[in-house]
Amino acid sequence: MNENTLESVQQCLNQFDVTEEQLQQIQAGILGDMERALGRQAGSSPSVQMLPTYVRSTPRGTEQGDFLVLELGASGATLRVLWVTLTGISGPRKEPVSQEFTIPTEITLGTGQQLFDFAAGCLVQFLDQLQVGSQPIQLGFNFSFPCHQTGLNQSTLISWTKGFRCSGVEGQDVVQLLREAIQRQGAYNIEVVAVVNDTVGAMMSCDPSPQACEVGLVVDTGTNACYMEEVRHVAELKEDRGRICVNVQWGSFGDGGALEPVQTPFDLQLDQESLHPGTQRFEKMVGGLYLGELVRLVLIHLAGQGALFGGVTSPALLTHGSVHVQHVMEIEDPSHGRARAQAMLQELGLTPSAQDCAQVQRVCGAVSSRAARLCAAALTAVLARVRSNPERSPLGVSVATGGRLYKQHPRFSALLQQTVRLLAPDADVTFVPSEDGGGRGVAVVTAVASRLALQRRQLEETLAPFRLHSQQLKAVQAQMRESMVRGLRGESSSIRMLPTYVCAMPDGTERGDFLALDLGGTNFRVLWVKVGSRSEEGIKIINRVFSLPESVTQGTGQQLFDHIVDCIVDFQKENNLSGQTLPLSFTFSFPCKQLGLDQGILLNWTKGFKASDCEGQDVVSLLRAAIRRRQGVELNVVAIVNDTVGTMMSCGYEDPHCEVGLIVGTGTNACYMEELGNVCAVPGDRGRMCINMEWGAFGDDGLALQEFYTPFDLSVDQASINPGKQRYEKLISGMYLGEIVRQVLLHLTHLRVLFGGQEFPSLQTKDIIKTKFLSEIESDLERWQVRAILEKLDLQADCEDALLVREVCQAVSRRAAQLCGAGVAAVVEKIRENRGLDRLSVTVGVDGTLYKLHPHFSEQVKDAVRELAPQCCVRFLLSEDGSGKGAALVSAVACRLAGAAGP
Ligand code: BG6
Ligand code: GLC
Ligand code: GLC
Repeated sequence: MNENTLESVQQCLNQFDVTEEQLQQIQAGILGDMERALGRQAGSSPSVQMLPTYVRSTPRGTEQGDFLVLELGASGATLRVLWVTLTGISGPRKEPVSQEFTIPTEITLGTGQQLFDFAAGCLVQFLDQLQVGSQPIQLGFNFSFPCHQTGLNQSTLISWTKGFRCSGVEGQDVVQLLREAIQRQGAYNIEVVAVVNDTVGAMMSCDPSPQACEVGLVVDTGTNACYMEEVRHVAELKEDRGRICVNVQWGSFGDGGALEPVQTPFDLQLDQESLHPGTQRFEKMVGGLYLGELVRLVLIHLAGQGALFGGVTSPALLTHGSVHVQHVMEIEDPSHGRARAQAMLQELGLTPSAQDCAQVQRVCGAVSSRAARLCAAALTAVLARVRSNPERSPLGVSVATGGRLYKQHPRFSALLQQTVRLLAPDADVTFVPSEDGGGRGVAVVTAVASRLALQRRQLEETLAPFRLHSQQLKAVQAQMRESMVRGLRGESSSIRMLPTYVCAMPDGTERGDFLALDLGGTNFRVLWVKVGSRSEEGIKIINRVFSLPESVTQGTGQQLFDHIVDCIVDFQKENNLSGQTLPLSFTFSFPCKQLGLDQGILLNWTKGFKASDCEGQDVVSLLRAAIRRRQGVELNVVAIVNDTVGTMMSCGYEDPHCEVGLIVGTGTNACYMEELGNVCAVPGDRGRMCINMEWGAFGDDGLALQEFYTPFDLSVDQASINPGKQRYEKLISGMYLGEIVRQVLLHLTHLRVLFGGQEFPSLQTKDIIKTKFLSEIESDLERWQVRAILEKLDLQADCEDALLVREVCQAVSRRAAQLCGAGVAAVVEKIRENRGLDRLSVTVGVDGTLYKLHPHFSEQVKDAVRELAPQCCVRFLLSEDGSGKGAALVSAVACRLAGAAGP
């Protein structure tokens, strides 16, 4: 061979040299792109994709079971089906059974349906031979293309790469497409449980001992890597704890131009003639699908220069795709390479000389060496990220390797490893070949996914009884209505329908100063309410919240009422009211049988109160007795008012259509204006009177709500201070929802659906979950914030746990809102019918921490009312200053009606 020839070949191949400095630039470029893609920085358009895979841990080694694996897209136009048996830690290793199928070109370039039907057909053929019978089969789908995953079994194809371009698949969930194709076959009971990139399969295939692989590298027809990343760095996920495997998709590095300094004219030509021009520029310099083609283009060029084959080409050499990576690998074989080169060239219709064969070997070597070195640069970028993790293993990093080019090429792996050591001398990397071509790893992910799917089913089963449908709500509404009528008639009913002796709404002419007490909600308050002209001063309130220790709410009645009087006296002193005898209204949020405005016999305590010697007594008398015991104090108790009534009156001052009062706080209850003629307990049949329904007790007679009581509700009821009582309230109000949630969480922990089965002591603590917790956790938070809320309760949760807890809260609070809505619907419908109207416009005055603070509760109540009482137009008006103000208005109205203005 003459000098010139050698020179021309050398010159041409020099273009494939990549200097160490260039490799370092590529490494830095990829690392920068990885970081930008993770951080989702606005305005940056990184060329690697960094796709979260939802694989959250490396294998534990405990995974067990039989799995079917379908591999599509890793090795060119072949499809592989495997039957993998995982035997856990102790079981003997079992070899998988596998079969390969060639996908015809008309399918790789055909329609999506053809492709998936072909795949499903291969599954059936494989299973027929295996004779697995009709057992349910769990399938893991190894789909080696860039996908946007939203879970382990949901994956939207972003774009085809390599040699595939089937229509109608990009933008679709490939799991769903595969499921549909399997259904079309109809032969086997196959559940597609997980979808995995080939790099993830490789990473998950490796033995967890002595240490698990945290990186998966594939060099096959395409090239790519995945690795375990701190989830807090993956901006898209908005989580703060744990790790997740990220599919780098480095094949597209350079699509923005970063590879220009190392690209040769051959690379540009190859790209232009490829199926997806302008994309996957890095992959086109490394992946096996392209190496043969690069070699072919170089050979044509050299032949054209007269440097090879005596200047002659052949039609076969000029045909796209006639040189394969398999040829390249064989030609580079140290012992038989020369002969293989000759054979290939002859097959291409050329008559090569011995020198030609040697030069062709050099061409192959240059192309594949560049590939190995570029791939090493990319891998060191990934290693740099893994090594930046502060919790990384002291044993260095293990990289699982897979793909035919990496495994079968005589020098590729050695050259890659050598370059990694050059570029990252202290990386301490171990390369571990993946097993079964990654099939085992896919099976491991499938095992995890099927465990998660089981957990999801268990969660759904647990929450199913909380999800009420319209018919059930309609039944509640009807039963509520019936109980209202019976209660009004004095017949046996769980709802007491108590007359309040409030017969008129404020009209704005009320004036005067009043004292008010507000007992029975979250806060005990004393108020000084100044009622002025509605148009000018309006209502002014000065109030103070006093604490009510449990020793007082659950001690003796005398202690309770003495404490109340002490608080009033303190308040009077602070506000220079001592010595004045202002009319006093008492908001007392418990069921009382009233015989007049200022007389109320406590029928029974509810919520958290249990003071002795009060039930059956007139509360006003108990208060007056306490005033007498505290000598030198004069108070004039004018009215006792339920909080619902106070709320209605307070809102009625703003809106004359307000004829319903609703409380959804610690407890729940409603009142409304009923026709006096319907109220048997009070004589007279003209005008209206406000009725305190005491609906919290709805269902206490066992005639309603039975079907809604889940075992969790029963436990909450049993552990309460009044078992069997206030059954409707216990499904709805703030005092109980947290407890119901806690019971459900305990159950889910027991099933190991939550917290990995770990039973935290705090979850055993009664009342640890407050209404505030539900409101917080259900608001629009990022995952990490949800998790932080759990942490405040000493529940060490990961973000997945946090989301499950949120689902539980949502189910429990939604049921509560819907049941409450059914009650409101019954009330407004009754008012409408009382008045013989086709349509009723009415305002409901509302108060209570749950209704006010929960992010969705109020909307859900409204939705239910709209659906259940379509002939009523219901406005919900929030009460601003609590029901103490309304209670003062009750006294003010009474004073006005008695013809005596307040002092
Ligand atoms: C308040 C009333 O506004 O609402 C209380 O003044 C009432 O008397 C309360 O009981 C209901 O809400 P919670 O959430 O405090 O029980
Ligand atoms: C291509 C695919 C990628 C895959 C790689 C190796 O780059 O886009 O998903 O991992 O090939 O098969
Ligand atoms: C309880 C009380 C009731 C009150 C309600 C809201 O149900 O029995 O009187 O209105 O709580 O506070």
